Amino acid sequence: MLSPARKLLKVFHPEGIPWPGTVFYNAVSKTSIFQRNYELVARDILTYCSEGSILDIGTGPGWLLVKLHHLSPRLRVTGLDASRSMVAKARKNMANAGLSEVVEVKEGNAGNLPYANDSFDTVVSTGSIHHWKNPTVGLNEVHRVLKHGGYALMYDLVSDTPESVLREAAREFGKLKIVLLWLHAFEEPFYSCKGFELLARPTLFKEGRTRFVGVMYCLILKKAR
Ligand SMILES: C[S@@+](CC[C@H](N)C(=O)[O-])C[C@H]1O[C@@H](n2cnc3c(N)ncnc32)[C@H](O)[C@@H]1O
Repeated sequence: MLSPARKLLKVFHPEGIPWPGTVFYNAVSKTSIFQRNYELVARDILTYCSEGSILDIGTGPGWLLVKLHHLSPRLRVTGLDASRSMVAKARKNMANAGLSEVVEVKEGNAGNLPYANDSFDTVVSTGSIHHWKNPTVGLNEVHRVLKHGGYALMYDLVSDTPESVLREAAREFGKLKIVLLWLHAFEEPFYSCKGFELLARPTLFKEGRTRFVGVMYCLILKKAR
């Protein structure tokens, strides 16, 4: 599912982002391209659920949680991240946004989610699944904590984004930013579109649909009723 070069990259690529990478990521995640992307993804998520409980795995600095809460305050929003340093950043961001009391951010790994079976109406993740050492185990955990009939929406960049999507994104975000994004795709073990689609097959979800939301490819999974 990954090219040999990206497989090798994945061996050395850390699962949770360590400090001081967290300081850098927290800073860049405040820029307009990231914030507009979170807004786009949050609005997309709300087309699947506007209330109930939602878990964001690999929440990073937690901005998606903030957007979701602001767009739909009735949602119960929870974030999880494997990096202790990133969890500290996200908690600080929640406190600055006045959301510490309503948004919980926990340390934990996708491969062993610290939640009971059937806990969440929706599970999401953005830009994280390419970090997971074992996405099959992770997606089976997503399946376990998801309520029957619930959706899992896994968003990530892919290594072979179609030119038409990049052209549209360049119109929205500016050409330079999209060239930087394209270059970034060479230093991360991103899946190809096909590899991303195939992630569902060995899992309890068995199959998924895919589509682009801005520059993010989204794998849409549903737990049977
Ligand atoms: C590129 S950042 C994306 C953060 C955020 N979702 C965003 O869109 O800005 C990937 C995040 O996933 C976290 N992560 C990586 N592997 C993980 C795993 N197996 N379980 C939980 N979190 C993980 C990393 O620590 C990091 O914070």
